[in-house]
Amino acid sequence: MASLLHQRQQQQSAVSSYPISPRSSPPQRSIPLFSRSGLLVIIALLIMLGVIFPLTDLSKGLFSSKANSLSRWRDYTLSEAVNFVAKNRTVIVCAVSQPYLPFLNNWLISIARQKHQEKVLVIAEDYATLFKVNEKWPGHAVLVPPAPDAQTAHKFGSQGFFNFTSRRPRHLLHILELGYNVMYNDVDMVWMADPFPYLQGNHDVYFTDDMAAVKPLNHSHDLPAPGKKGRTYICSCMIFSRPTNGAKQVMKKWIEELQEQPWSKARKANDQPAFNWALNKTANQVDLYLLPQAAFPSGGLYFKNKTWVQETKALHVIIHNNYIAVRTIIKVLLFFQLKT
Ligand SMILES: *[C@@H]1O[C@H](CO)[C@@H](O)[C@H](O)[C@H]1NC(C)=O
Ligand SMILES: *[C@@H]1O[C@H](CO)[C@@H](O)[C@H](O)[C@H]1NC(C)=O
Ligand SMILES: *[C@@H]1O[C@H](CO)[C@@H](O)[C@H](O)[C@H]1NC(C)=O
Ligand SMILES: *[C@@H]1O[C@H](CO)[C@@H](O)[C@H](O)[C@H]1NC(C)=O
Ligand SMILES: *[C@@H]1O[C@H](CO)[C@@H](O)[C@H](O)[C@H]1NC(C)=O
Repeated sequence: MASLLHQRQQQQSAVSSYPISPRSSPPQRSIPLFSRSGLLVIIALLIMLGVIFPLTDLSKGLFSSKANSLSRWRDYTLSEAVNFVAKNRTVIVCAVSQPYLPFLNNWLISIARQKHQEKVLVIAEDYATLFKVNEKWPGHAVLVPPAPDAQTAHKFGSQGFFNFTSRRPRHLLHILELGYNVMYNDVDMVWMADPFPYLQGNHDVYFTDDMAAVKPLNHSHDLPAPGKKGRTYICSCMIFSRPTNGAKQVMKKWIEELQEQPWSKARKANDQPAFNWALNKTANQVDLYLLPQAAFPSGGLYFKNKTWVQETKALHVIIHNNYIAVRTIIKVLLFFQLKT
């Protein structure tokens, strides 16, 4: 009971600002660091906490300056980061650049409510984001160099945006190759309930349909039939993969498809069509799983069909704010923040 209460308190403090890592640095004390007794106290503390530091690291820690910690994050690798945040061999990742920090905050609040924030790793797409997140939440952001060009990466439909989203399957493949389960989310999503109970069975890749058409509650979990463009409209916004050969094959195909159909002014593609072609071409060899629509509706359904939302009210798990204008998104964000 006491430990439950303790968890709850941690939970609430996590919700009020950024989630707090229990492994973040110990609180500052007013013992002079460089005095003999100060050092002894710190060493004793570290031993008590069971932290076994090699001596070199200890001296680095004691004399660290801001510049020092920035360079520490600059050199922090994806493998170190995944190893640090993963729980039960699972990580939840997103990829964000600075303009999306308010969305990141909102997304994290919704995940903290479901008590999964500990396994979140933010893949920062610029150094400002890397430093900002790690400053508040040490170890939970990593940058995979080279950082995309900040000026061009944000405009939806631009080549910069395409280049930015093209990095996604590479990050995911890398994490799978390290042997971890990985859930990818766009940060314009909000968790209403815990999605993990829905990731049933031992399928390779789990995903959601971006189509707005209403399906029966007992719809099939197979890859849907291709739509008008000869391909499906699976969302690249929410993907869960297990570190299997099948899942790695899908990511490799996705990377290949992006290279074969590069960005052009006429098409203004993002990475989603390539993901759908990758699913189409690997479907016979890979165990794919379409998540239930009622739990993971597309924004086009959730924000456009009030009747459906009423009918399926208790079933929603993750809501995606796509298909709606920026002003509406901000209202939705405020709504979710104020609700509890
Ligand atoms: C750990 O993962 C396994 C399989 O992925 C799952 O069945 C189990 O419930 C998870 N345990 C916890 C504590 O989350
Ligand atoms: C996008 O990537 C291509 C190929 O790597 C590169 O030639 C181009 O300069 C990049 N464009 C932008 C705007 O980032
Ligand atoms: C869903 O339920 C309906 C009516 O009970 C049934 O006819 C249909 O075959 C079911 N579909 C699937 C995919 O199980
Ligand atoms: C892949 O796409 C082609 C072309 O639209 C289609 O004929 C085929 O049925 C698709 N395969 C799968 C497994 O969905
Ligand atoms: C909206 O949802 C209702 C209830 O599920 C459904 O009958 C109707 O066809 C949907 N409307 C549209 C435009 O898809």
